[in-house]
Amino acid sequence: MNLDVTAVRRLEPDFWRAPSAHNTQPWVLRYIANGVDVGWDPAHALPAADPTGRDLRLSLGAFVETCLIVAADAGLAVEYVSDHDERARRVGRLIGTTRPYGSPFDAAAVRARSTNRGEYLPGVVPDDLLVRIDALAGEVNGWVAALPSRGLVEPLAAADRHLFGDAAVSAELADWLRLTPRHPRYRVDGLTDRALALSRAQALGLRVALRALPTLRRAGLPRLLAASSRSTLGYDGCVLVLVAPAGCGPAGDVEFGRVLMRIWLTLSELGLACHPVSQLIDCATTRARLAERLGVADPARLLHAARVGRPAGPSARSARRVQ
Ligand SMILES: Cc1cc2nc3c(=O)[nH]c(=O)nc-3n(C[C@H](O)[C@H](O)[C@H](O)COP(=O)(O)O)c2cc1C
Repeated sequence: MNLDVTAVRRLEPDFWRAPSAHNTQPWVLRYIANGVDVGWDPAHALPAADPTGRDLRLSLGAFVETCLIVAADAGLAVEYVSDHDERARRVGRLIGTTRPYGSPFDAAAVRARSTNRGEYLPGVVPDDLLVRIDALAGEVNGWVAALPSRGLVEPLAAADRHLFGDAAVSAELADWLRLTPRHPRYRVDGLTDRALALSRAQALGLRVALRALPTLRRAGLPRLLAASSRSTLGYDGCVLVLVAPAGCGPAGDVEFGRVLMRIWLTLSELGLACHPVSQLIDCATTRARLAERLGVADPARLLHAARVGRPAGPSARSARRVQ
């Protein structure tokens, strides 16, 4: 089946609403004769924070799922064929098919979803919803664990100390922060002060602290920065952890990114939001502790962690390169 490439191209602004770690929007669409290759740009990867490419592949999977949902909503019959090639920096291809992708979601749901890093109301994910979310992960032989957020306050602080204690990881994060509207890429990509739910004073404080970090790293600045994130999980909420089966592999990670998008859209349509806390998985020590707590023998099977709940207020819309 031929793919109407011009019609697909027109949908790019909605495709770009997919979530990505640090909002780097790492995906690249390469239009070819009978389809569109989905690949990535290494300049938009996170080699320090994400050396295994786990978050890159999850983001690419979320992008693929978003493309399929948006194309189906526009009446285009598009399917995704996985064709992972590390050297060609390609995860797969969007091709024409006989009928549009079946999904309960539409382009409006894609536009309405956002990460919310503000305050959440107390409350855990209800059991029936957890069963639905777990079933989504089950479609790719994974599962979802729910943990009380308070129990993860200390591990999150440890993971943040690790993050700010690592020169390369914190410099990479600083590169993707846009803490003032005067930043030239404020409306393009990265994490803005508003998306991070920071007040002006907090944004200024973080800018000053990050600038001082190289000199004050040994003087305890990472500890101070980590302490400021204690409120993230210090309430009666819940953290969901996505667990992959053994031997999932790179193409499997992309499939989990697709599932992650379905989970986020499911929550978003119910007025719930997510705030990923990937540092818990990035830091080997906290990842190992979390895996042990969940009875998972191989910590590499933990793919993603996010606090989930009903946000106390709306979130700011994040920037995109294509809009
Ligand atoms: C794989 C993945 C990992 C992420 N990790 C984090 C994280 O550790 N902390 C965080 O605040 N946001 C995290 N995010 C959320 C992104 O920063 C967010 O999707 C991006 O800034 C775009 O904003 P939006 O989700 O509101 O569209 C992650 C997103 C993805 C897809």
